Amino acid sequence: MAKGDKDREMADNIDEIAKSLQEAVLEGYSQKLKDEFFDPKNIGQIENPDSHVHITGACGDTIEMSLTIKDGRIRDIKFMTDGCGATIVCASYVTRTVKGKSIEEALRIKPEDVDKYFEGLPDESKHCAKLAIDTLKASLNKYESREQKPKFSSAKRKKKDINGRTAIF
Ligand code: FES
Repeated sequence: MAKGDKDREMADNIDEIAKSLQEAVLEGYSQKLKDEFFDPKNIGQIENPDSHVHITGACGDTIEMSLTIKDGRIRDIKFMTDGCGATIVCASYVTRTVKGKSIEEALRIKPEDVDKYFEGLPDESKHCAKLAIDTLKASLNKYESREQKPKFSSAKRKKKDINGRTAIF
């Protein structure tokens, strides 16, 4: 067998072993959770996002989230985390669920909805759903508070009044 073929075969074997180890660890979890774990969505960072936050939960793990908004709807959303597998699974579910939704609709999603979708997260992982939701809410709140700020500084809003004097509007 050629060296390249041997290397490929070895890499395939390692992948198989890693997968069966992960499956053994996930024994007893719902199929939905396993599917999300093996194929998480929306991992990464958005360039020039409309909002970007890092939120650290009580356990010390952090989720970083970035999103873009168009016409009041979440156009794109991505996350990164240094957290556990359950954090990845929860953030993946949350981001793919809210993509395309309005801000109001997205703000309605609760940790209990995430728990229900996965047919019950393990007790020690319930807070991971809360962290994913808290990060989403922080991203949307940051976007909304940024939108409510005046777009121009007071210096730029100086205008001449009718008598040619400078006034601030
Ligand atoms: S263990 Fe900390 S968020 Fe999952």
